[in-house]
Amino acid sequence: MFAFALGNAALARCSRSAIRAAARLLVPGLAAAALCCLSGTSWARTLEEIRHDGGTILLATEGKFPPFNVFKGAKLTGFEVELAALVVSRMGLKYEWKAIDFNGLLTGLQQNRWDLVIASHGITEQRARAVTFADPHYCSGGVIVAIDPAINAAHDLAGKVVGVQTGTTYLENARKITGLKEIKNFPQDTDARSALLTGRVDAWITDRFTALEVIKMTPDAGLRIGEFLFVDRLAAAVAKGNSTLVQAWNQALAQAMQDGSYAALSQKYFGQDVRCQ
Ligand code: ARG
Repeated sequence: MFAFALGNAALARCSRSAIRAAARLLVPGLAAAALCCLSGTSWARTLEEIRHDGGTILLATEGKFPPFNVFKGAKLTGFEVELAALVVSRMGLKYEWKAIDFNGLLTGLQQNRWDLVIASHGITEQRARAVTFADPHYCSGGVIVAIDPAINAAHDLAGKVVGVQTGTTYLENARKITGLKEIKNFPQDTDARSALLTGRVDAWITDRFTALEVIKMTPDAGLRIGEFLFVDRLAAAVAKGNSTLVQAWNQALAQAMQDGSYAALSQKYFGQDVRCQ
């Protein structure tokens, strides 16, 4: 009974390819499941499986993080959305998008719910234990944004309320600042922005390019960008150990970086080349 339950759980975590291969070899499902379980791996579809299944990769993002992934009406767009289209076409694949809450994106990889996530995830040690990161597709960093001209640097935040999106490197780095009165968590980065605009928080920690975009869009709001708090290297992610997929993505990304298409897209969104130097 216990072995059966364990087998089922392992099957749920194992890749479709392992299950398919087991079926092909007539290996009993339980044995295949036990193998997957012992190896400790869990991954979404490999490149071969995606090709075998018709060549459409399932990409996931948030869609609420301008200018990287954002809905304009019903249309999902943004730097990362357009970049993913460039990269995937160079991989010889078609794509479909899923847009879900930021917090569930990496977990969904472990549950085989999509093949690849691209949503401005900074490469961190903790995340890298759970997923496999691709090469970074841009470099940026967390900045302090405030309306009060007295708030510029981290030490100006003593006794202040700071707004950040839950589950982000902004939260992680806000926790390192000493003397804050409170950190307010918001499900979306745009909620943290609204909280600043309506005076519910004194400062917002977000991406530098997100802040620049907001200032461009709402020049009268009086938002000011303060200190650059930390460097973020932003990368797509696949399920842990899905090496064929991540290698193909990296190769196609490198190609887009060489053939001028990445540079053109980066110019369009940022007026500069945002690749990591
Ligand atoms: N770069 C930050 C991080 O790694 C924030 C990413 C937020 N992304 C988003 N789609 N809301 O956590």
